[in-house]
Amino acid sequence: MKTILVFALLIAFSGAIFAQEKPIVIETKNTALVYKAGMQNKLMQAYFGEKLANAEDYNLLFSRNEAYAPAGTDNLNEPAIRMVHNDGNPSLALFFDKVEVNRENDNVSTTIICLKDDVYPVSVKMYFKTWYNEDIIETWTEISHNEKKPVLLTNFASAMLSFNERDYWLTHFHGDWDKEMILQETQLTSGIKIIDSKLGTRANKFQAPMFFVSMNNPSTETEGKVLAGTLAWTGNFQFVFEINETNTLRVLAGMNQYASEYQLKPGEVFKTPGFIYTFSANGRGQASRNLHKWAQKYRVLDGMGNRNTLLNNWEATYFDFDENRLVELFDGGKKLGVDVFLLDDGWFGNKYPRSNDRAGLGDWQETKEKLPHGIGYLVEQAEAKGIKFGIWIEPEMVNPKSELYEKHPDWILKLPNRPEHLSRNQLVLDLTNPEVQKFVFNVVDDMMTKHPQIAFIKWDCNREMTNAYSTYLGEKQSHLYIDYVKGFYKVMEDLRAKYPKLPIMLCSGGGGRTDYGAMKYFTEFWASDNTDPLNRIYIQWGYSNFFPANTICNHITSMGKQSLKFKTDVAMMGKMGYDIRVEEFTPEELEFSQQALKDYARLKEVIWFGDMYRLISPYEESRAALMYVSETKEKAVLFCYTINAYRENITNAVKLQGLDAAKKYEVKEINIEKRGDGRRPPQFGRNTNRVYSGDYLMKVGFNVRSGRSDLSSNVYEITEVK
Ligand code: DGJ
Repeated sequence: MKTILVFALLIAFSGAIFAQEKPIVIETKNTALVYKAGMQNKLMQAYFGEKLANAEDYNLLFSRNEAYAPAGTDNLNEPAIRMVHNDGNPSLALFFDKVEVNRENDNVSTTIICLKDDVYPVSVKMYFKTWYNEDIIETWTEISHNEKKPVLLTNFASAMLSFNERDYWLTHFHGDWDKEMILQETQLTSGIKIIDSKLGTRANKFQAPMFFVSMNNPSTETEGKVLAGTLAWTGNFQFVFEINETNTLRVLAGMNQYASEYQLKPGEVFKTPGFIYTFSANGRGQASRNLHKWAQKYRVLDGMGNRNTLLNNWEATYFDFDENRLVELFDGGKKLGVDVFLLDDGWFGNKYPRSNDRAGLGDWQETKEKLPHGIGYLVEQAEAKGIKFGIWIEPEMVNPKSELYEKHPDWILKLPNRPEHLSRNQLVLDLTNPEVQKFVFNVVDDMMTKHPQIAFIKWDCNREMTNAYSTYLGEKQSHLYIDYVKGFYKVMEDLRAKYPKLPIMLCSGGGGRTDYGAMKYFTEFWASDNTDPLNRIYIQWGYSNFFPANTICNHITSMGKQSLKFKTDVAMMGKMGYDIRVEEFTPEELEFSQQALKDYARLKEVIWFGDMYRLISPYEESRAALMYVSETKEKAVLFCYTINAYRENITNAVKLQGLDAAKKYEVKEINIEKRGDGRRPPQFGRNTNRVYSGDYLMKVGFNVRSGRSDLSSNVYEITEVK
């Protein structure tokens, strides 16, 4: 009996245990992802984690985890791919065919592993692009076939990763309009947990396409093995976390297959979006820093370039403005010292003027009543006043009360035989249609051709996709969610071919579209319409896990009752800007803000491109602290926020990170409010303007004085003393 059992086990694991093929080792500076062809020639993931010290040890690895498990043959867990062949057979069997490695340079290379079905002419190529120094891997697949007729793809993950640990903890980010990026951590239990979006456009309004999985223990900032992953896709996504009967965690990441069966023609290549991930053996902080460095150097448009500081008029005026009012506002921007005045929603539409959100969307001509001399005049006036001009658009959408709606009903997503379902009084244009793509392209192109001085664009997208039916797609309705995003990318590709560097902010009714698929075309994103600085600490904290500081737009507004200093200190943590009535500032407030902008200009290199350390989480204490350290460790900026002083143990010093222990640093407070009575400002503590060793600041820490009152904050400039 015993012998039979052993024999059965050997057969079951034979592909794994006896496989002698040379392993395929995909390495970055600190991690290794290893595949092996098993005896049955199935591709197995043999390892993913910290690099092994001895390369020959990779030969010892074995595994039961198929690398890209298909549906229909022997796989009983959630499949990475499912295909129905044109003879109706709903199964795939994938076997290792070959591997090739393309080296772009010392840092970047791509490993391509080809899998083939042994019966049907189907091939799956798995791509692994690595950025060695940044410890980043991007994985996607290309699926194709040479059957006689189209096949149907019903599952199409970009990546499948397996882990064999004791426990798994998932950190994910959820929310809604005005409540973006709420962090939640939970232990995964056996079975499946899905984080996904079915919202089409504005896809991450409820769930963001990014997560951490921490191995064995809840994640921390500095310790523990953590996978950080995000999908580069501006549409429906799905992450599946499945703990199966052997306590293996399988992570599947890709486009959501919901209502999206895809008919693939012979010879056509179905390319899945990139799943971007990093493995850190030192907690979440290291994973975030890896992603920041990679994103700035390799993914975000002009990621290492400069950014403009903005004065936006949305919260200052909403729809209530005209030419003269705008020109007055330019003065405020100039006085303040920002680079660009950004004209928001409400400047267009004539038959149906856009005086609220119920009309005009789609008619991209200046409203004559509000702007009798057009955009050209505004651009000129801004220039004359020494400030650049930027403009808001929302080109993928339409109000039923618009000329566009009247002229092109077939360009709009609408269900036959059903009433239109409006959200913010608007509908979504059908970007699967090349004519609509051209129209959207022209919204920008016409404007830039007429007014080449326009220095900035804010691209909004204020609703998710219901009415999901495209006249253009005809019988292929299930292609809509995928082809919409492809249509969006086509427009952005065309625009970027013509306007490679024009700064464009990605906005989606707040932060409903924040992913590395779109950020290839955008320089920054609007994080949330919630600009109350208390909430903003959490929102920005959430984004900081996956996005670098120069991409997260933080504006100082009149929302929230906190001091201007608190608002400024919160906004400075990322890409600082304004959306406020500058003319209502007191002289002290104006002076404070002018100084803050000057300090920001001086420190932005460190804030944007330094290494970020999250020191105290607002989710764990009633305060928050975060810092940036320059590459040379000569300069750092520390941000501290007290949320509720009563609940906080204010005597706890903030322990810094990332400094050079051997260096000496001066710690100087900035953003200090002047008090009319000549007394020392409340936040000005005994311990500033002093010199400390890096060792002391990291081991003992730094006492933040203003911790005595609620919603108080401090920003410190830390400079090496030579
Ligand atoms: C939503 C954006 O998030 C806001 O900043 C603003 O641009 C409005 N749309 C305008 O309609």
